Amino acid sequence: MGNGIAQVAARSGFDVVMGDVAQEFLDRGMASVEKSLQRDVDKERLTKDDKRSIIGRIHTTTDLSALSKAFIVVEAVTENFEVKSEVFKTLDRLTKPETILASNTSSISITRLGAATQRPDKVIGMHFMNPVPVMKLVEIIRGAATSDETFEKTRGLTEKLGKLPLECHDSPGFVSNRVLMPMINEAVFALYEGVATRESIDGIMKLGMNHPMGPLALADFIGLDVCLAIMNVLHDGFSDSKYRPCPLLKRYVDAGWLGKKTGRGFYEY
Ligand code: CAA
Repeated sequence: MGNGIAQVAARSGFDVVMGDVAQEFLDRGMASVEKSLQRDVDKERLTKDDKRSIIGRIHTTTDLSALSKAFIVVEAVTENFEVKSEVFKTLDRLTKPETILASNTSSISITRLGAATQRPDKVIGMHFMNPVPVMKLVEIIRGAATSDETFEKTRGLTEKLGKLPLECHDSPGFVSNRVLMPMINEAVFALYEGVATRESIDGIMKLGMNHPMGPLALADFIGLDVCLAIMNVLHDGFSDSKYRPCPLLKRYVDAGWLGKKTGRGFYEY
């Protein structure tokens, strides 16, 4: 998702620094940006020159100190609190005191991430949807200490990116994944219990509810590890058994069948 966010920001005219732990991930990210922009060139919605300029506005680095001049940093690392809080501590040390530190987390508490820094008033959730260049929504999450000023600046920036910001409070799964993930988990239970085949489950939801994808295909698209992590956040956060992750979801993650990104999930790619 990080490269999608970088692409959208660069397309809106911003200079972007995209950081990662290794050059191979940055190269993969830039290849995704290239491919995504090329779709628009092919459809004559973007000129080759504009594509080149957008790519030219994205600078890649494995040295996070290159983010020191940023007015906002959007973190999009793995969906794990320990990893994210370490990144936030590092960003807190490296960036200017007025820099906003946003997280693209899909379910982790913004309040807890804020508390890992010396600037909890400038920590906010900026939850993009996948695929980032296509999806209009950004869920904006205010932590307990997020200031109105940080919220207003983030909302303004989201609009400049051509997205629609919708606000919610910090609560497990926020709104998007509190509603989406139990539906996906229930679809996995239906498969687990043999209620229907994967094709029927997805077909029923796709054609019957007018969803663009069935829930199992969507889970593969999001990543089964991400789906499981979010279910665990809901389960722990609400202490309610209705959020227990389906054993089949756990088994697939244990097997390394994480969906589209590993070539196998509920479907083969
Ligand atoms: N970059 C740029 N454009 C892209 C793209 C990408 N990566 N992927 C698709 N597109 C564009 C295509 O160019 C096409 O554009 P036009 O219609 O304007 O020509 C359009 O999107 C549709 O693409 P396709 O025709 O190739 O395929 P499709 O009709 O099957 O759509 C889809 C693909 C947009 C992914 C659609 O299936 C969809 O909307 N699926 C649901 C996505 C969804 O629910 N996302 C949210 C997931 S939850 C999440 O992200 C949050 C979380 O915390 C887990």
